[in-house]
Amino acid sequence: MSLNYKSQNLLINNIPIKKVVRGNSTPFYLYSYEKIRNNFNNFSNYFKKVDPLICFSVKSNSNIFIISELGKLGSGADVVSKGELMKALKAKIKPHRIVFSGVGKTEEELLHAIKKKVLLINIESESEAILINKLSKKLNCITNIGIRINPGVDAKTMSKITTGKLDSKFGLLKSDFLKFCKNSKKYKNIKIKAISVHIGSQITSIGPYKKTLDFLLKTIKSSGISFEFVDLGGGFGIPYSKKDKIIDIKNYAKLVETFKNKLNCKIIFEPGRFIIGNTGTLISKVVFVKKSGKKYFIIIDAGMNDFMRPALYNAKHEIIPVLKSKKRINRNVEFVGPICESSDTFLKYKNFTYINEGSLVAITNVGAYGSTLSSNYNTRPLAAEIIIKKGQIKVIRKRQKISEII
Ligand code: LLP
Repeated sequence: MSLNYKSQNLLINNIPIKKVVRGNSTPFYLYSYEKIRNNFNNFSNYFKKVDPLICFSVKSNSNIFIISELGKLGSGADVVSKGELMKALKAKIKPHRIVFSGVGKTEEELLHAIKKKVLLINIESESEAILINKLSKKLNCITNIGIRINPGVDAKTMSKITTGKLDSKFGLLKSDFLKFCKNSKKYKNIKIKAISVHIGSQITSIGPYKKTLDFLLKTIKSSGISFEFVDLGGGFGIPYSKKDKIIDIKNYAKLVETFKNKLNCKIIFEPGRFIIGNTGTLISKVVFVKKSGKKYFIIIDAGMNDFMRPALYNAKHEIIPVLKSKKRINRNVEFVGPICESSDTFLKYKNFTYINEGSLVAITNVGAYGSTLSSNYNTRPLAAEIIIKKGQIKVIRKRQKISEII
């Protein structure tokens, strides 16, 4: 993250967070542009020799300002709905740099993508191909598609975000894929351009990726098709705490280089979390400190509607004070939100810096699947999003008004 302390005050890119809080009500998401840029450039550099098309996965963060800044840095977009496609286009990502994924795209969504002439629609069933073919025929055009394959690889990540095992709903099984390739000539209004794969998210070792590349090589050979693109998806994990493993992207890049040289194709990646995860923090205010038996509940003004990952996946995101104190609370503390569910809890500590009602805290590494997973549960308005770019504080999504929900 771009966070550090200066005389006990938490700063983001050298700007005191308490300065950002003046004039902006909590909770709000706070991003560092410089960190986003560095992450994107680092990712590009790892794969320099592969020269891929990097399509930022918009589901991880769909703020139009952020998509647009990534576009200026050279990113395309991976979208999964008409809404995301519209956002990517609004952010001035060119259609020929957009891939459309998803297991249940509707006719309306497909029609929109066909008309916009996106680079690829990655199909996940033969029914989808039939529908695209029919719609394209009506429009008198030929649509470029990719076929998502299920490689039967366990990504060794949380089960809720594993997508490449044989019992998962994603992609075509190898036998169906080969059958489809063989029979595809009958679909005159689609053109198979790519094979695509995505085995899961928050992946921290390259073993599953290696298995996937081996699988793809064999499968492509058996298909007899020379694919112009191989879309290798996303999934690159990030460390959420000091204990977490760091994925060895350098070595993965070498594997992809060898893979590409064997096939002579263009590589596409769809990273989300790796680009945006550690660039954002959620700033929240302590509403009450509630002593209950031997424990302190620190009740903050952010709830599971603002940030869902701990409730949904039991994900651990470190919480740090905006003002560090030398005093400590030497008891068990539990950070919780205001929502009437026991799952509305963020993290427990054995002790914590002294904080009080009205103190500010930062929930860290929430740039990916933070704001995009938020909701209006309990009729709570969506939090604002703010970015620091070149020393300037910029609101990139206003806090929603309750009247807008009602
Ligand atoms: N491509 C496809 C087809 C995907 O389904 C996903 C994520 C990505 C790319 C980007 O994956 P990434 O590089 O960000 O790992 N809400 C969960 C993560 C769900 C990921 C869904 N698919 C979480 O908060 O951990």
